[in-house]
Amino acid sequence: MNDERQVGRSWDRNAGNWTRAVRDGLIPSRRAGTDEAILQAIAERGPKRLLDVGCGEGWLIRAVVGRTGCAAVGIDGAEALSAAARAADPANSYLTMDYDAFAADPSIGIGADFDVIAFNYSLFTKDIAPLLQAAASRLTPEGAIIIQTLHPGPVGEEQDGWRVEDFSVFAGEDWAAIPWYFRRLESWCVVLRDAGLDICERREPAADGRMLSLLIICAPIAC
Ligand SMILES: C[S@@+](CC[C@H](N)C(=O)[O-])C[C@H]1O[C@@H](n2cnc3c(N)ncnc32)[C@H](O)[C@@H]1O
Repeated sequence: MNDERQVGRSWDRNAGNWTRAVRDGLIPSRRAGTDEAILQAIAERGPKRLLDVGCGEGWLIRAVVGRTGCAAVGIDGAEALSAAARAADPANSYLTMDYDAFAADPSIGIGADFDVIAFNYSLFTKDIAPLLQAAASRLTPEGAIIIQTLHPGPVGEEQDGWRVEDFSVFAGEDWAAIPWYFRRLESWCVVLRDAGLDICERREPAADGRMLSLLIICAPIAC
């Protein structure tokens, strides 16, 4: 199986562990500031409608809805995760959908006119331009895509390429390793441009002098 396909399969296997890790606050960088960083970036735009792509067990939608009262849709390829999201928040809509299916037909089942489309640690594959392009087609004219991802580190230190997350921080638990595609900041700029997006703002949430993540707010070029 290629790395792109294996990404989706691995999340299915990790669904129970992942739900517990998120809901019990077991991921230190999230507690240190990345949860609040994306929540704030979304809430400050005052969205009426939010789409969360790769929503997992749905914490971000629950948090944004709690803060802003917006309506929301989440999509995720792992059925166990979208089911957990649905069970925790029957008022909003959570669909099991693979990114490939969404990119092929972004109109299926999710509606349009989203003020914000979020990708919180949910872009793991190499060829993400078609997915981002499809997402952009669901935005309002003033809408934005907000991506939070691992901080790429100092410029020039690493090359783009596939890596493996082995969840060693949860040693002793049964996690499936997950392949993910690392890209340098320059490569983020290129792939966003390929998807027809301009970077409106870049944030680097930090704690104790350490970069926690890279947060990119972008919108369709010439909008
Ligand atoms: C690290 S989790 C993040 C979940 C959530 N955004 C959060 O902040 O907790 C990545 C999520 O992306 C989803 N995902 C990854 N690749 C996918 C794909 N190709 N199609 C659909 N979902 C995918 C996984 O199922 C998983 O729920």
